[in-house]
Amino acid sequence: MGLEKKRKKHCKGRGKGKGEEKVESSFSICDLPDAILHLIITSLPTKEAIRTSILSKRWQHLWKDISKIELEEGKPEERQQFIHFVTRLLVACNCSNLKKFSLSCNVGKDANLVNEWLCGFLNPKIEELSLQFEEIQEPLIFPNQLFTCATLTKFRLDMRHVFKLPSSIHFQCLQTLTLSNIIFPDTSSTQQLFSGCPALEVLFLTDCNWKNVQDVCIYSPLLRKIHIWENEEDILDDDDYYIDGLNVTNCCQVLIIGNNLKSFTYYGDCMNEYFLYRSTLVIDASIQVQLPPECYWDNDNTWEIASGNFTFRLLKMIPNMEKLTMSETSIMVLSRTTSLLGQLPLFCNLAELVLDPLSSIELSYAALLALLRNSPCLQVIKFKGGLSLAKDDENCIFDPLPLCFSTTLKTIEINGITGKKDELCAIKILLQAASVLDKLCIQCYWHSFDLDDNDIGLKMSKELYKQILKYPKRSMDCKIVFQYS
Ligand SMILES: *[C@@H]1O[C@H](CO)[C@@H](O)[C@H](O)[C@H]1NC(C)=O
Ligand SMILES: *[C@@H]1O[C@H](CO)[C@@H](O)[C@H](O)[C@H]1NC(C)=O
Ligand SMILES: *[C@@H]1O[C@H](CO)[C@@H](O)[C@H](O)[C@H]1NC(C)=O
Repeated sequence: MGLEKKRKKHCKGRGKGKGEEKVESSFSICDLPDAILHLIITSLPTKEAIRTSILSKRWQHLWKDISKIELEEGKPEERQQFIHFVTRLLVACNCSNLKKFSLSCNVGKDANLVNEWLCGFLNPKIEELSLQFEEIQEPLIFPNQLFTCATLTKFRLDMRHVFKLPSSIHFQCLQTLTLSNIIFPDTSSTQQLFSGCPALEVLFLTDCNWKNVQDVCIYSPLLRKIHIWENEEDILDDDDYYIDGLNVTNCCQVLIIGNNLKSFTYYGDCMNEYFLYRSTLVIDASIQVQLPPECYWDNDNTWEIASGNFTFRLLKMIPNMEKLTMSETSIMVLSRTTSLLGQLPLFCNLAELVLDPLSSIELSYAALLALLRNSPCLQVIKFKGGLSLAKDDENCIFDPLPLCFSTTLKTIEINGITGKKDELCAIKILLQAASVLDKLCIQCYWHSFDLDDNDIGLKMSKELYKQILKYPKRSMDCKIVFQYS
């Protein structure tokens, strides 16, 4: 408010031209052309932008041609105010200039009202659209013209409901599509949706429900990044389950044709099947398989083996990647598929292997060893969540020694250890095996030692460092870098 008052004064001051107001800089904001003022207004949050109307007569109407509106519902008790505000805004503002629109609100019983808002705010020249709806009771109807909008470049939709699609879909310029929590309506319109995005470059699919879709092909010649996140617990309703767990016949087969695909991320519990076709350009992949809760009463490990098979199939489709991130669970389940490990491809370009930060990894996992053996050019391994090795496995794991350990492996990073026997055993083995290693970086966190006392962790990590410095190293020049935070 202070700033607004000052500006108001400035404007008045110059208007009177009597110079009672000393204007420090040689120009006032009022001297700016409309186009710049528009830019300024557009850079403000929507409510602030509207408040500019009190600044001066000239400002009073300027905001109405605003090109960006962001509306986010606040506390539930202020819902009526929010509805009132949006409805008045829709009447007052000239939406034909709107380029960016974002709306986040609960729908509840007001589906009709929200439908009206969508019709009102969305013009055929919109460029960026972000919609997030909660508590939907009846389906929202998006204006048909949205689906043939030729200017839309970014579209984000987050709603836990069926996404009703019209028969004609063509997003000529859509580059980034983010769909969260939506339920795809059926096979053919879902296919139309993806076929209607010929310019798509980046696709995020987060907890989308494919239960109504049998198969779909995602193909855009420009698609370079796809990020899939699916967590059964977040997606399914109770009636999607039957007595023995998930109805696996509900699984959707998603074919991704990736002539230009460079980055692929999968994080989830293997609910659906993903095929990557012509994906030889993928250079950055992340496969973070999780296990759904049902698998805890899965006595014969069927679930783990099925997830391992899933992981194997994905890896097989991206042999040229340069960087691979895997969760501990991906490595564990892949280790269950013993018969398939021998069929893993050679990852001739893989330079960096990152193991995710959530859990410590067993160095003796068959899948980890197989990956190391099949990655002859590996330069960096990062154990983000620590690592361990049982003493009994000490002598057998690196027999035969993966080629990269004697040719290319220069850097090993280990995070979050506390000096347990199994951790030290793993570090010892790595130092003895890696003959061209330049650097071993170890990062300790105070909270993994003692939650209450930072000093205890500091003391223990210093001891740890001294101890590791004494270990025999195959690579004489290897530096050991220790960090504590
Ligand atoms: C809204 O903006 C457009 C484009 O700038 C303009 O042509 C039109 O006259 C405006 N409409 C109103 C009601 O101000
Ligand atoms: C599993 O899903 C399929 C396809 O939707 C359906 O036909 C079948 O009845 C379901 N099975 C059970 C046991 O719910
Ligand atoms: C895993 O893959 C193997 C080899 O293709 C197959 O024999 C086995 O049935 C699969 N297991 C599961 C649970 O999918």
